[in-house]
Amino acid sequence: MYQQTNCAENTPEIHEKAAAEKRAEPLTNEEPPRKQVLIVDDERPIRMLLQKILEANGYDCRTAENAAQARECMEELVSDLILCDINMPGESGLDFIRHVLKVYPETAAIMVSAIGDPLLAESMLQLGVYDYIIKPMDRNGILISVANAFRRRDLEIANRSYRRNLEQMVDERTDSLQRSMTKLENAMNGIVRAIAHTVETRDPYTAGHQRRVADLAAAIAGEVGFERDKVEAVRVAAIIHDLGKISVPAEILSKPSRLTVNEFNLIKEHPQVGYDILKDIEFPWEIATMVYQHHEKLDGSGYPLGVSGDEILPESRVLTVADIVEAMASHRPYRPGLGIDIALGEIEKNKGKLYDPEVARACQALFNEKRFTFDK
Ligand SMILES: [Fe+2]
Repeated sequence: MYQQTNCAENTPEIHEKAAAEKRAEPLTNEEPPRKQVLIVDDERPIRMLLQKILEANGYDCRTAENAAQARECMEELVSDLILCDINMPGESGLDFIRHVLKVYPETAAIMVSAIGDPLLAESMLQLGVYDYIIKPMDRNGILISVANAFRRRDLEIANRSYRRNLEQMVDERTDSLQRSMTKLENAMNGIVRAIAHTVETRDPYTAGHQRRVADLAAAIAGEVGFERDKVEAVRVAAIIHDLGKISVPAEILSKPSRLTVNEFNLIKEHPQVGYDILKDIEFPWEIATMVYQHHEKLDGSGYPLGVSGDEILPESRVLTVADIVEAMASHRPYRPGLGIDIALGEIEKNKGKLYDPEVARACQALFNEKRFTFDK
């Protein structure tokens, strides 16, 4: 026998016996740790009987004659299993086991009682006690009950450990995925800003136009009740909506007088060029189509395709209104800024005809009621 500890009957004889057994049967590294059992019973013969039976079958046992001693034993070394009498002087076995199950979740418990009370047995099993043994006990019954308790305890511990590992793995992967998403998002925003900057570098007169359109378009999208993700889609599309202008010669973009028909036709190609550049990029939203449609009108009089009504994405309809309002209100190479009142007048005049009426109303409300202003 490797070791025998006895909290209640901590006698020199027992120490001597344990030491002798330890010398006779030394543990090797390969041997699994022996199961620790705490026997709690106020009747000494019962304690000794249980101890003898269990030790003869390879368990390490300690004994305690009441709950107070048993608590000390548990504080000293947590047992794997407790065999506990119900009726004892002082704290009852039931209260002690309640404490154990709460404080030592990996300790299994079997109750031992002289009273065969099915209701009591049921309530204890519900509490988490593994078994209920009636005195007088037979040797085989005890060994089967203890073996079953250890089997169930090992399974429960393995299950808890598996669940903990799984939860930890899910947490780690979620964190890692979140970090990757943030990096991708930052990269996408950086690329979008770089594209916007490139366009505005070639076209200094409209520098800031896309950013201001993005601010207004995102505000309108929020005002009409788009979900957050869709608002973000509108904002990203707006920031690069004039990307296609990189195909237009800079002198046309900055021409300080009226454009010829040919020059205007060249400029009208910019939604198509923008779409062609963006269409193969896997944005999380239909950014290329939004850019493609930002000069389309509700009645089909826009360009480049002349699509109308529901053929135009809701996001594109927002972008169109924001683009018109910002462009009219701001300075252009061929004219000074017309001001926000004239820009809003255009929206009012053509809402329902050229512009989505709900989008138009949201835009008007932003300026008239919510004090929206373009950031200079
Ligand atoms: Fe445009």
